[in-house]
Amino acid sequence: MEASVKACGPHGERLLAPPLLTALQQTGSGLWRISRDATIRNSKPPCGGCTATSSSRRNADVVESFCAVELYLPDYLAHAVHRSRASRGEAWFYANWGYEESKHSLALGDWLLRSGMRTEEHMADLEGRLFEHPWQLPHDSHVAMIAYAMVQERATALNYRNLRRRAQECGGDPALEKLLMLLAVDEQAHHSFFLKYVQLYLEQDRQSTLEQLRRAMNAFSMPAIYALADGRQRVARIKELEIFNDELYYREVYLPVLESLGVQRSEMRNRLPIRKAAATGSA
Ligand SMILES: [Fe+2]
Ligand SMILES: [Fe+2]
Repeated sequence: MEASVKACGPHGERLLAPPLLTALQQTGSGLWRISRDATIRNSKPPCGGCTATSSSRRNADVVESFCAVELYLPDYLAHAVHRSRASRGEAWFYANWGYEESKHSLALGDWLLRSGMRTEEHMADLEGRLFEHPWQLPHDSHVAMIAYAMVQERATALNYRNLRRRAQECGGDPALEKLLMLLAVDEQAHHSFFLKYVQLYLEQDRQSTLEQLRRAMNAFSMPAIYALADGRQRVARIKELEIFNDELYYREVYLPVLESLGVQRSEMRNRLPIRKAAATGSA
């Protein structure tokens, strides 16, 4: 008991986090797919550390931003589990979702360290700053949050796909490319789950579900990044690299999602869907 009390707080967290994360990576067989992947584990990024080009440094900034957004997992999960406690299907999904998402920040953080783009101290400072400002739910409606998750997961997959392309353009980085590909697959799978969930709500009550869809999709922004002190600069960098922006959101998230749901644009009341779309990635 004494030890666990002393372990609480930022100092205790710094002592406990590294060995606990290592233990997590060693748990199970074949579960830690990303970190165990040989390409990721063995590959040396070609443009790491002090020899990095400006392009690869910009890409690393975005990797760090996406890692930061993924690091808000405890906040995402706490809200999601609380909301879904009465639904076995949803609660069990979130249990698995939380496991899969937990790998994302760890894998991105691993790459930042192994590539020499960031130091242990830098990452510890980043984590410390993140947890000063908990993430707040963007919507109070359960259906709106399901709809929000549906577009956010697809947008996150898009973020990882486009960052992968930027990495390829700056000379290639097998470890980062493989990592981003695996993350995008996870995010797309999460999107598919939430899409099916929204379809069920539409079948049950189309009009009220459409109302929540409008709330979630017409003023969409990705989670958490604006909570960071330098969130605006991070978003600007993501837009500058054309990884995610209003137009990409509209073309590659908004319209395809409506089509998959069988929802007409007129049912979204033709509001401008791109007004608040902003860049980032996670969960
Ligand atoms: Fe996800
Ligand atoms: Fe994620």
